[in-house]
Amino acid sequence: MDAITNYIETNKDRFLTELFDLIRIPSVSAKEENKADMIKAAEFLKDSLLKAGADKAEIYSTEGHPILYGEKIISADAPTVLVYGHYDVQPAEPLELWNTPPFEPVIKDGKIWARGADDDKGQLFMHVKAFEYMCKTGDMSCNVKFMIEGEEEVGSVNLEKFCTENKAMLTADVILISDTTMISLETPSITSGLRGLSYVQVEVSGPNRDLHSGLYGGAVVNPCNVLCEMIASLKDNKGKITIPGFYDDVKECSSDEREAMAQRPFSRDKFMQSVGVSSLNGEDGYSDLERIGIRPTLDINGIWGGYTGEGAKTILPAKAYAKISMRLVPYQKAEIIAELFIKHFTSIAPAGVTVSAEFLHGGEAYVSPLNTHEYLAASQSVEQTLNKKPIPVRSGGSIPIVSTFEKVLGIKSILLGFGLESDAIHSPNENYPLDNFLKGIETVINYYKNYVFLKKGKSQE
Ligand code: BES
Ligand code: MN
Ligand code: MN
Repeated sequence: MDAITNYIETNKDRFLTELFDLIRIPSVSAKEENKADMIKAAEFLKDSLLKAGADKAEIYSTEGHPILYGEKIISADAPTVLVYGHYDVQPAEPLELWNTPPFEPVIKDGKIWARGADDDKGQLFMHVKAFEYMCKTGDMSCNVKFMIEGEEEVGSVNLEKFCTENKAMLTADVILISDTTMISLETPSITSGLRGLSYVQVEVSGPNRDLHSGLYGGAVVNPCNVLCEMIASLKDNKGKITIPGFYDDVKECSSDEREAMAQRPFSRDKFMQSVGVSSLNGEDGYSDLERIGIRPTLDINGIWGGYTGEGAKTILPAKAYAKISMRLVPYQKAEIIAELFIKHFTSIAPAGVTVSAEFLHGGEAYVSPLNTHEYLAASQSVEQTLNKKPIPVRSGGSIPIVSTFEKVLGIKSILLGFGLESDAIHSPNENYPLDNFLKGIETVINYYKNYVFLKKGKSQE
């Protein structure tokens, strides 16, 4: 056993005890009632960084949830890696679908079960522990900075301002993030791209109150019916989005890239089985993986209105609502897409109702170049740890702030994710395999070594 695996093996019980303490703090960014827990989680991580060996760690309050910044600077000449992660988690509801309580982590079948076990507390904590290893063993060859936010799951609304205001403090050569997935430890992959997001909420208003559906139904326009018709019209029978201008900025993927994607191991049957459906459908002319990875989409995330309680109530609702997300691909701009959506959606409102739509949040897609020292170091470190060269995979998920980092700080990110698609992030029974957590720590430590090596080689050229 080498020094790294030995350190991880010797300390893994403590790593888990500490991670579990972090997970027990229900830091749900979406909920007002958890405001104090957000501060607690930020403080917990501040202590973790300081105990690991950071020179300093400070909590910055924002108009929303606090941001934690920490660093260890060994030399002004050394390369600097900025680690980004988020301590906030998604709401755990529906609680009754969890096999064990969401904020009481347990280990079962080699996995940690809890909200945040993967997204992103488990993955973020790998970095804290890799950092601890480097500080404690003195095996540190570059500067390390941490920026850990508490609003990723609600759109990172205050992080851009923090970056703009603290540009000098955040100077770095690369941003390293573990908040995505890989195919598996046996078939490792590195996320080479993320989709963008434009999230809107719509409201359809009709009569001045809920009406008796017998006395009024048939004559008065029903906002819920209208909403369904309007949303249904947003896609044609080929799965194309009908909003005028929606595809204008989409750059088609090269055939080389599409061919490379087709090489990725993927079983349609297993995929369907894993989500419990017997058929898939999407945009004509694209494979399942392309539909997820390189094409934009439009999906209802929630739809409500009228009576949704127990039993039946015969009414014609006064209002109907929906939350709609559009996943975006490179060159589409979240705000422009939201504008196009709002313009189109309000224009198709039939007489008898009024329609309004609001842009909630969003961000742009991100593509990671594969021919940089930053990526190569990641690829090498995964190969070193897992004995297999990782393949690059464009993910369908979004971390909107990643493109903002590039825009505001001018720094590219490496998405060294260790989650699995089966980890059920955002769902009941979220989990994170212990092996991914431990191999992740090892890979991150290797990353620093490989990166510094490649980078120094480069500067000597
Ligand atoms: N960690 C996820 C994003 C992710 C997961 C990307 C797996 C790729 C693979 C992140 O916490 C997340 O959930 N992002 C949100 C966007 C946000 C604006 C709410 C998402 O993708 O829905
Ligand atoms: Mn995440
Ligand atoms: Mn998430």
